[in-house]
Amino acid sequence: MLTRLNKGKDILTKEITDIDYAAEIDRLRKEMNAVILAHYYQEPEIQDTADYIGDSLQLARAAEKTNADVIVFAGVHFMAETAKIINPDKLVLIPDMNAGCSLAEGCPAPLLQKFKDKHPGHILISYINCSAEVKAISDIICTSSNAGKIVGQIPPDTKIIFAPDKNLGRYLIKKTGRDMVLWQGACIVHETFSSKKILQLKLEYPGAKIIAHPECEESILDNADFVGSTSALLDFAEKNESAEFIVATEPGILHQMEKNCPGKKFISAPPESACSCNECPYMKLNTMEKLYNCMKKRSPEIIMDETLRSKAYLSIQRMLDMSE
Ligand code: 13P
Ligand code: SF4
Repeated sequence: MLTRLNKGKDILTKEITDIDYAAEIDRLRKEMNAVILAHYYQEPEIQDTADYIGDSLQLARAAEKTNADVIVFAGVHFMAETAKIINPDKLVLIPDMNAGCSLAEGCPAPLLQKFKDKHPGHILISYINCSAEVKAISDIICTSSNAGKIVGQIPPDTKIIFAPDKNLGRYLIKKTGRDMVLWQGACIVHETFSSKKILQLKLEYPGAKIIAHPECEESILDNADFVGSTSALLDFAEKNESAEFIVATEPGILHQMEKNCPGKKFISAPPESACSCNECPYMKLNTMEKLYNCMKKRSPEIIMDETLRSKAYLSIQRMLDMSE
């Protein structure tokens, strides 16, 4: 009896593992006229299957420009939600609906509204890592690649609230010289890097450049040779003559760095404790199997109330116009 059961289980497992996900995803992509957008923090196989790989801004732009009927977003929820805000008539799919973001979760719209009410006369600039509800009460959205440009365009006498990332906010205050009231949110991944361990690595690799995402804490950014969004870090690694880089962001980006820069060495910045907490647990919820299943079942789908969407669209549209 037990053997028969095990045999059944074996057949089932075989059926599941026998699927060539890359080929099946490709077939479905053509059948559905779908475009697959993937963030740099996705697993290498997902990046290799995607039509576009990019940072938050590049993916929002790809979503804006696509002619596909279906957008499959291999990233986290706020990214897929942004694609839906830009494309209300398209089907927007996400492999795992639970792929959230600690920044978005740590900034609920009702609390941010109260914070806003305490600071009358301020405009609200929100980092794209936030919910549609937060986007709807924001004046302008920014990403890590256009934040400096956007803050730089705000008239000097306009007071600014920046939410939800305090580390990016603090970095922008230093970079632009603009004072801003900061919401105290942070990314659970970028807060794990240890400056002590990074400096120890630097002793081991004295020629290495330290490159960091602006969501990292101040002590990391102060020691970095270059600070930028994921696409800016990739670009720096490609153009800089150094042969070694210590990378303080989610290690998913190393896949493109290694692909685009043969012969260069990329060392992932270590977290404080001996864990793999420098990997984004939300981004890594997506797998090839889930990507395939969401296309096959046309679900989970991002669904949004039209009043909310049209309010959120205004702040995204301002960002797209201001970062032309
Ligand atoms: P990018 O703007 O560099 O894509 O950053 C998004 C993100 O979630 C970083 O943690
Ligand atoms: Fe959010 Fe941080 Fe994950 Fe980026 S790395 S999606 S900011 S939790």
